[in-house]
Amino acid sequence: MQPDSPLFQPFDLGALRLTSRIVMAPLTRNRAVDGNVPSPLAPTYYAQRAGAGLLITEATQVCPEGQGYPRTPGIHSAEQVAGWKKVTDAVHARGGRIFLQLWHVGRISHSSLQPGGRLPVAPSALRPSGSAVTFSGLLPFETPRALDTDELPGIVEQYRAGARNALAAGFDGVEVHGANGYLLDQFLRDSTNRRADAYGGTLENRARLLFEVLDAAISVWGAPRVGVRISPVSRFNDIRDNDPQATFDYVAARASALGLAYLHVLEGEPGADSAQLQPFDYARLRAAFAGPYIANCGYDRSRAMAAVAGGAADLIAFGKDFISNPDLVERLKRNAPLNPWDADTFYSGEEKGYIDYPPLAAAQAPL
Ligand code: PHB
Repeated sequence: MQPDSPLFQPFDLGALRLTSRIVMAPLTRNRAVDGNVPSPLAPTYYAQRAGAGLLITEATQVCPEGQGYPRTPGIHSAEQVAGWKKVTDAVHARGGRIFLQLWHVGRISHSSLQPGGRLPVAPSALRPSGSAVTFSGLLPFETPRALDTDELPGIVEQYRAGARNALAAGFDGVEVHGANGYLLDQFLRDSTNRRADAYGGTLENRARLLFEVLDAAISVWGAPRVGVRISPVSRFNDIRDNDPQATFDYVAARASALGLAYLHVLEGEPGADSAQLQPFDYARLRAAFAGPYIANCGYDRSRAMAAVAGGAADLIAFGKDFISNPDLVERLKRNAPLNPWDADTFYSGEEKGYIDYPPLAAAQAPL
């Protein structure tokens, strides 16, 4: 047992004191109810996990066009804000801290999920390979409609409204989802952006929408309450960049100058061997960002302790282990066994696989 490892020590994230360096990663759970309102079970789910130093919500669309999967929650209606308020109240009652992840999927959607049955939108009309997840099962992706330049200020305003709604819902901050092949990543990485306007071509242009969105979130929250998530080499959602190191070092340096709450980095691709991926120097990325660095991607207890003790990361985000272990921080402190997860209930279902994972036996002696 190494409860004195820095992983388990408090951390000051701007003005927020976190109880440990352990973060719950954003996790899509597809349990929202009518109107894409968070499930009535969501307050229990998040409150059960409030022992994390910081919780980041599942990806949450800022507008109806931002939805790409069945039953993902939004943050663009009064009902959704009211649903999220129940979540933040439950988490705060247990002493937790929670950021909302602001999301727009761009081309990773399907006309059957879009308002008026319209095509999904994207920086360029390039069809992703693979299938969309729809209410009728998997359907081949469609060729998206390229956004006009004069539509982009409206997209930025949708993020700003999402940030305002997150404030009204009682969150502690927001994370801008710039990762995993969704809209902002589609602008950023060159395989998905063939634009000839001020939002395509040069690195500065490809990053323009991300930084306009970050500025919008900062206008609501102030920079110390705004984080950003990136995934430099993940190919998930059929995306790549010719020079990920240059692209993401640039993003990190500009994010650093803004004084953001944190840089959250998916260091690889879940399930892929790093040898299959483009080489990437995360230490160099980190050096370009002066603020707190959250590392994520398959960390276990010993790697997490080593990364924080050695200074490679300030905080570590755990995903699947948090699904199956509501008291993950306690278990990691005690080096107790972890519940295995049930992948069949990750993306569908109700209580099962959501709020029924057991905590450690209550009889176990306190530390
Ligand atoms: C998913 O729903 O599969 C999903 C959502 C957001 C991510 C990654 C995966 O960042």
